[in-house]
Amino acid sequence: MRIVLGVGGGIAAYKVASLLRLFTEAGHKVTVIPTEAATRFVGVATWEALSGNPVSNSVFDDVEKVNHVRLGHEADLIVVAPATADLLAKAATGQAGDLLTNTLLMAHGPVLFAPAMHTEMWQHAATQANVETLRSRGVTVLEPASGRLTGADSGPGRLPEPEAIFAAAMALVNAADGAKASPATEQPLAGRVVTISAGGTREALDPVRFLGNRSSGKQGAALAAAALAAGATVRFLAAHMDVEPPAGVELVRVESALELREAALKAAVDSDVVIMAAAVADFRPADVSDTKIKKVDGEDAPVVRLVRNPDILHELVERRNAEGGQQLIVGFAAETGDAQGDVLQHATAKLKRKGCDLLVVNQVGIGRVFGQDDNSVVILSGHGAEPQSAAGSKADVAAVVVDRVGAELTRVFPAL
Ligand code: CTP
Repeated sequence: MRIVLGVGGGIAAYKVASLLRLFTEAGHKVTVIPTEAATRFVGVATWEALSGNPVSNSVFDDVEKVNHVRLGHEADLIVVAPATADLLAKAATGQAGDLLTNTLLMAHGPVLFAPAMHTEMWQHAATQANVETLRSRGVTVLEPASGRLTGADSGPGRLPEPEAIFAAAMALVNAADGAKASPATEQPLAGRVVTISAGGTREALDPVRFLGNRSSGKQGAALAAAALAAGATVRFLAAHMDVEPPAGVELVRVESALELREAALKAAVDSDVVIMAAAVADFRPADVSDTKIKKVDGEDAPVVRLVRNPDILHELVERRNAEGGQQLIVGFAAETGDAQGDVLQHATAKLKRKGCDLLVVNQVGIGRVFGQDDNSVVILSGHGAEPQSAAGSKADVAAVVVDRVGAELTRVFPAL
């Protein structure tokens, strides 16, 4: 595969040398195009030596080869890392002042941006608008990782690890190929859009307190990684999580059940699959105080009154049914056995109640499932198929669930 690796002028440029290595070691031919500013961080000689190809960022070198047209047309993939605020702005507004920006305008294959910058620059409305513009044109812009930045600051803005960018790049190419021709068995979700919710919602009591739950988001993150590997475009709706969402997803962060509902109804509109792995609070405080609730000596402790949250999964199913849409909807159930029935009896009743196509059931207890690295589940079908068990790491379980989703999608909606 031919890859163009655009390098932006940020300190993280040095990490891109490892990304280049991952590409070349996997047998790909890479042409590196550093911006003028990038060469202040890592010199041309490094890129030439590591890629084995000449390096330039001028449209006036080798003019007879019309490099920007050739590179843009020939590239099976263009990756820009680190994508600085400046490069995102230039790409979003179609500027063409150097070889890299010219090449981006000539791109025929998938384009991936891996941003890195200070948190405030990333969160600035101008940058976010540029990211949205690029995404709306089908360009993949990864979420930056969170952590220590160049100065004393920390937050979202770190370049994702080279391995994560590499994996996202390969998933992107596979998805593009899958949309064309890949055999269904290798990429069961190629060309599909999959929305996955994950983590635990937080229901505000006052500006500093909330009601939450023990969900770590690990199973949801593993599902997203498995869906990406299966060739899907993944919309990831992340409530509170203890782990980072995988690189390569379209990320929407939410806090409460009501925010998740809004995001889920929006994302589901043109999704082929919706997987509700989030632990959604069934209740929220009826009153949210604008100011911190204070203890007052001599007064009774406050009583928190709760109201029901909407059942998002149920609502998604109802809307799908009303619209006659061909969409596979998957629920998760955390169950315990009790005097009224065992885990499977409760789960079967829940599957009926929710009306979803698949229900992934696990048994919970303190220290069990929530936050653990291993999981054991039973997948129940609303279409009469036998229950299927899966156990192992959350990645193992995710792979089985995603495989089953692919199979069920073809079985329930053969015309899709
Ligand atoms: N769910 C949802 N909206 C809610 C509550 C849950 O969409 N308000 C979804 C979860 O994401 C999960 C499934 O419903 O996919 C099952 O959640 P669970 O909490 O086990 O079920 P409940 O409906 O809360 O049933 P119960 O409290 O009776 O166990």
